[in-house]
Amino acid sequence: MSGGGLSALCPAKVNLALRVLRRRDDGYHELDTIFQAIDLWDRLEIAPGHGLSLTCNDPRVPTDDRNLVLRAAAAVAVRAGGGPRGAVFHLHKRIPSEAGLGGGSSDAAGAIRLAAEWWGIELDADEERHLARELGADVPFFLQGGTARGTGRGDLIERLPSVGIIPLLLGVPPFGVSTAEAFGALSARLTLPANGVSLPLFSGPKWPKKKDFSFMVNDFERVVFTLRPELGQFRDGLIECGAVGALMSGSGSSVFGVFAREVDRDAAVERLSGRFRGWSIQGTRTVEGAAHVVRVGDDEQGSQLR
Ligand code: C5P
Repeated sequence: MSGGGLSALCPAKVNLALRVLRRRDDGYHELDTIFQAIDLWDRLEIAPGHGLSLTCNDPRVPTDDRNLVLRAAAAVAVRAGGGPRGAVFHLHKRIPSEAGLGGGSSDAAGAIRLAAEWWGIELDADEERHLARELGADVPFFLQGGTARGTGRGDLIERLPSVGIIPLLLGVPPFGVSTAEAFGALSARLTLPANGVSLPLFSGPKWPKKKDFSFMVNDFERVVFTLRPELGQFRDGLIECGAVGALMSGSGSSVFGVFAREVDRDAAVERLSGRFRGWSIQGTRTVEGAAHVVRVGDDEQGSQLR
């Protein structure tokens, strides 16, 4: 159905674990990762228009067809057939770019669902997944949300038991890290079989019931912390402040901590804000949601937007 007041809410993610297993013949890398959606959301709005166009509140975000929102909408229009379709998108960006939080990929997943709803196109789960995988390796996760394991390029998604609502601290430094460059730097240092270790813990019954976060690991830390020692110092600071686990997310640059209690997390926000000038340091939490369409007036998920 085509109507007014439709938006997509698009969550950020962190990687609770990220192993880079090997470089593939297609230039991508084989991953074994645990994605976790978090309570930090972009909002993508849609309105009638001729052709496809995009505006964004953040002038640093490209609004031409380098942006996955427009590529996602174009792919949905092609899938629908029946000639060109129009829409004007506005992206309200809250998820920092080049931070390993998956914002652009989440926006793409939201755009698939929003464009399909706007144009009255029924996409089944397989079709959505197919479109998502074509757009980027991280996009399929955002159709699923919550806690999920990603294998292959990170695009083969299997739901995992919920970890529940867990307090997190998210630190974003005043610089980004390019994903392609981080993969390039790591690729040169992949040392099998050390990196061939799988993640058996995640399918085991012990997790997540025990809330034991000692499994947290990210293979990118070795290369990115060498280039940007401040990131490692922030992670160490999180542990000193009582985090039960702390890790860089994706290929960086954000670093997050898992806390047993909100009160401990809030104390850590305060302490680290004093030490790491120029960083954005905020409390957030795990969520079970995915990129989803809302109508104005709906009870929206995404406390950051209220
Ligand atoms: O899929 P996406 O466009 O988000 O990936 C960005 C870049 O990250 C790719 O061009 C590739 O260089 C690298 N990448 C990779 N292996 C993956 C995912 C991404 O090498 N599994």
